[in-house]
Amino acid sequence: MIAIYPGSFDPVTLGHLDIIQRSARLFDHVVVAVLRNPNKTPLFTVQQRLEQIRLSTKHLPNVEADAFDGLTVNYAKMRQAQVLLRGLRAISDFEVELQMAHTNKTLSTQIETVFLATSNEYSFLSSSVVKEIARFGGSVDHLVPAHVALNIYQCYAHKNTTSNQTTQTGKTPPHKSSSMESPPEKIGEQEA
Ligand code: PNS
Repeated sequence: MIAIYPGSFDPVTLGHLDIIQRSARLFDHVVVAVLRNPNKTPLFTVQQRLEQIRLSTKHLPNVEADAFDGLTVNYAKMRQAQVLLRGLRAISDFEVELQMAHTNKTLSTQIETVFLATSNEYSFLSSSVVKEIARFGGSVDHLVPAHVALNIYQCYAHKNTTSNQTTQTGKTPPHKSSSMESPPEKIGEQEA
């Protein structure tokens, strides 16, 4: 059975990886599907997020990372998947996730949503929390894989450098050629 684990993964956290590892034992194949979302200003490009996920899951032969546009159920059908996988951290997630599962059911009766309870130690963890900590100079080493933590530190160091230059000159410096997108100015709604 093929399962799709859709999300923003901006960036992938140890909480996501907990769900991915456990689902890899339950399903024949797990596709971690990164949504190309034009409505969000991400910290990392889709390509960077795919690389972060691939590096973090290279020990799991039945896990792949892919990007998609549009409706998740359409992508699931295209991949011949039967299951949409989502992690549940707390009751607060449940309301949103249940609504999403019901909505997806109206779009396709063939695809089932399966919820995995996040392991206790990650019940507080979200990509937004990681970005918030890093933005204010805190360590995220215990929340994301080491290579992702490095990407995050580099991203915020770049942002701090450019904003210091802005303060000193009163002008915004030209955007450095970099594959990083500009970090969002504010952390938006809570992401998984
Ligand atoms: O990690 P996130 O941001 O909580 O993931 C949300 C995601 C990508 C699973 C959800 O927004 C989604 O499925 N978007 C695709 C559009 C869609 O299918 N909408 C109908 C279901 S509400």
